[in-house]
Parts: sequence; C-alpha cells; structure tokens
Amino acid sequence: MSKNIVVAIDGYSSCGKSTLAKALAKKLHFIYVDSGAMYRAVTLYFLRNHVNIADAEQVTAALQNIHLNFHSRDYQTHITLNGEEVSDEIRLMPVSENVSPVSAIREVRKEMVAQQQRMGKSKNIVMDGRDIGTAVFPNAQVKLFMTADPKVRAERRYRELLPNNPDITLEEVFENIAHRDYSDTTRKESPLMRAEDAVILDNTNITPDEQLAFALEKVQPFLKN
Ligand code: DC
Repeated sequence: MSKNIVVAIDGYSSCGKSTLAKALAKKLHFIYVDSGAMYRAVTLYFLRNHVNIADAEQVTAALQNIHLNFHSRDYQTHITLNGEEVSDEIRLMPVSENVSPVSAIREVRKEMVAQQQRMGKSKNIVMDGRDIGTAVFPNAQVKLFMTADPKVRAERRYRELLPNNPDITLEEVFENIAHRDYSDTTRKESPLMRAEDAVILDNTNITPDEQLAFALEKVQPFLKN
C-alpha cells in the first residue's frame, strides 16, 4: 500500500489557513485537522480550572486530565474537551487572548505534537497550524506557508467574529492579530517559521477558489502514486 499523504499548512493568524485546509480536504476526501483548535481547547481548560501556566507541575498534571477529540461534520471542526463540545467557545475572546502563552509552553506542545503525529500516521490528512511543516510533519509531502496583509487579515477575522461577539471592534481584532503574530514568531518553543521546503502562498489579493487551485496543483503529483 502506498504511504499516506500529509499536507502541512502553516502561517500567520487569520490568513485563511483553515478555509484552504477545509476546502482541500473536502476536495481530496482527506481528513482535516485544525491543530490551533487543540491549543485553544487546552487554553479553555486552563482558564476554567485556574491552572497557573507558570507552574510546570500544575500544567503537566492538568494535561493528563485533558481529552480532546475531533468529529468531522461537513469538514467543519467539531472538537470536544472531555466529551463536551467546545467548538464555539474556543473562538471567543477569552480563549483568543490567552492562547498564545499557553501554546508557548513546552509541556503543552509536546503533548499536542504527539497527538497530532498519531493522527497523521496512517491516514491522508490536511493539518493547519504554525509548526506542522517544521516540527509535526517535517516529512510532509506538501508544505504550504500562508501569509497575507495584516489589515486584510484583521478585516476578515472581524467579519467572522462579529456574529458571536457583537461588541468587538476592528482595532481590537487588529491588535490581537498583531500580538499573536509577534508571540508566535518570537517564542522559544517551535516559533512560527517557514520550513525551507514550504511553498509561500500570499492570499492578500487572491480568491479562495484561486488559492484552492494553487494548493491542488501542489498535491496533484502525489495522488498519482
Ligand atoms: O490557528 P489559531 O489562531 O486557531 O491558533 C491559536 C493559537 O495556537 C495561536 O496563537 C498559535 C497557536 N498554535 C500553535 O502554536 N501551533 C499550532 N500548530 C497551531 C496553533
């Protein structure tokens, strides 16, 4: 049997990674894994249980009580935290504002990366995140690194968040994105960076259909084997 195919999509916050990853998975009948949702669910658990993230022992103990599961329905991310569906709650501001420091913790990354690697062991998958092409699947057949103008990213995210966060402002969203870009690229543990063999995809001025066509072209050669 031929080896399973892994498509790794990394890039900055809110530049359409999940839109592309979902569309690609749907088209190819691959499994879609949103790795950011896992860090968000861990953050939610830490917030709810008042875990002190500066205390490595507390963090390690808490991680043992966290059980995450994905359920794919229409290629939308449905993630459960200890059996409870938290897909909506992990997108709200309290989690968005706290996820960067949580995702920078070595113990958290070690556990999440191990879970992610298990998911990509034998199945064809598309996974998006920050370190998928560098740390999680350095041997992925296809690696894309996505970027877009920060202002365009903030506008897109603002429109997405508004229905569930009616009081939110564009400035707040822009600040949050700028802050996350900074922490994601400067953190010590697996900072966001382009894998040497990743193809850059800047979608500031292209449509979702165009970026899907671009990505499909990159995967195509591996489908024939
Ligand atoms: O993609 P997102 O915005 O849902 O990710 C939430 C946070 O998790 C973001 O601050 C970066 C972090 N993250 C990470 O460190 N590694 C990943 N593979 C995915 C997300």
